[in-house]
Amino acid sequence: MAWFIFPILCVFLSTLFIFSFLFLRASRFRRLRLPPGNLGLPLIGESLQLISAYKTENPEPFVDERVRRFGPVFTTHLFGEPTVFSADWETNRFILQNEEKLFECSYPGSISNLLGKHSLLLMKGNLHKRMHSLTMSFANSSIIRDHLLVDVDRLIRLNMDSWTGRIFLMEEAKKITFELAVKQLMSFDPCEWTEKLMKEYLLVIGGFFTIPFLLLSSTYRRAIHARSKVAEALNLVVRERRKESYEGKTKKDMLGALLAGEDALSDDQIVDFLLALLVAGYETTSTTMTLAVKFLTATPLALAQLQEEHEQIRARKKQSEDLQWNGYKSMPFTQCVVNETLRVANIISGVFRRAKTDINIKGYTIPKGWKVFASFRAVHLNHDHFKDARTFNPWRWQQNGSGTTSTVHAFTPFGGGSRLCPGYELARVELSIFLHHLVTRFSWVPAEDDKLVFFPTTRTQKRYPIYVMPKKDSRQCKDSDQEEHMTEKVGF
Ligand code: HEM
Repeated sequence: MAWFIFPILCVFLSTLFIFSFLFLRASRFRRLRLPPGNLGLPLIGESLQLISAYKTENPEPFVDERVRRFGPVFTTHLFGEPTVFSADWETNRFILQNEEKLFECSYPGSISNLLGKHSLLLMKGNLHKRMHSLTMSFANSSIIRDHLLVDVDRLIRLNMDSWTGRIFLMEEAKKITFELAVKQLMSFDPCEWTEKLMKEYLLVIGGFFTIPFLLLSSTYRRAIHARSKVAEALNLVVRERRKESYEGKTKKDMLGALLAGEDALSDDQIVDFLLALLVAGYETTSTTMTLAVKFLTATPLALAQLQEEHEQIRARKKQSEDLQWNGYKSMPFTQCVVNETLRVANIISGVFRRAKTDINIKGYTIPKGWKVFASFRAVHLNHDHFKDARTFNPWRWQQNGSGTTSTVHAFTPFGGGSRLCPGYELARVELSIFLHHLVTRFSWVPAEDDKLVFFPTTRTQKRYPIYVMPKKDSRQCKDSDQEEHMTEKVGF
């Protein structure tokens, strides 16, 4: 008899436990006054609505509709978790400024596995503070001016030298930003080794865009496998460089700074750190390059003004001369184009955080453990902050432009607080120099219609195919003093 009662008792007790848990949680949430909203269906919440909106050229209705019904801070349920979604600049600022105190960064396990536990994006506490400032100091204005600029200019020109006929701009931009990152991090010029590294690395990137509940997909498994290959190759470089630094040979790159730093990082820590930097700077900058060109192509007046600005810079320098820091500093309209591209279509549409405690904000409570999403995109496309916000209008950023209001805090393409993007200046320089060489050396037309979509990431569906036509005499800018390609093979 006892054997018969026992399982029934177990079922009864666990049901009782689950119901009491749900009841207590629901009454706690009622007491807490959650932001209004809708949790959608059990488990999947509103993820499917979000995905289908962001797979189109106009994802805004997802947020607009909820803001209209519930206000700019609302509750939803995304990718398996209840989430407070903020489309409000003050709340976003509060979230960013209270990193570590009230909120902590939170990535799905799928992404953490690919980043590696020692990456800057996952680091916390004092180590994060020190490593963040080390990264900032590696990419600050004077380092860019004195060391990085020359390679940014050279490698962009070198890549463009092979452009002819039909190209996929997104692919070309990715190649450029990858080569720049490898050069800045480890001093490698493009070679067979960097090409192989990039092939594996692209598979890793593919894994970042896997939906968290599709972890068994072949894309994700391939990404994990490729990550270990990339890590292995980087490990060999780190070991080699550590040996060299014991012999007193140092290089002025990120790896050099990490090896010389006070923290005595292990090889594995350095590898995770480098790998995450490659991830952070590569897709972001190359997408912005491509989208700037797409928006300019659709806005001929802006393109003409940009061309004029760069032709003047070019006229001021001798033909074979590299682009210098003062050239970069005399591109005011280019900065307007960069800002506007980042405002209209930033690949980082916002950031996820997790509440470390119950947090009161704007009369509501975000319960401890809940996810929050600070949506930069929702603020950037809000008509209260940016006049005619959903139109690409680079002139709004001009000093006498009237297209922005309260922009200082509302415009956060590079985040803020203690996790402010350490590559923000470098990204601007890379984007500006890319546009300089593009508009002075080529004219182009789109090869096909291509749609901008926002899921699984911000990109154009067809990698933005264009026909490029070199302008007369542009080849005279060809780099005459290309450094020898590094052919030494490391890893793989
Ligand atoms: C257009 C290009 C870029 C955009 C839009 C961008 C945007 C951002 C944003 C919004 C964050 C904050 C993430 C958060 O708060 O969780 C961030 C962080 C970061 N970015 Fe960038 N970024 C760009 C380029 C770069 C470049 C070129 C580098 C390389 C140096 C870089 C390295 C990083 C790193 C390491 C972090 C993590 C910082 C931390 O967690 O402490 N980014 N980026």
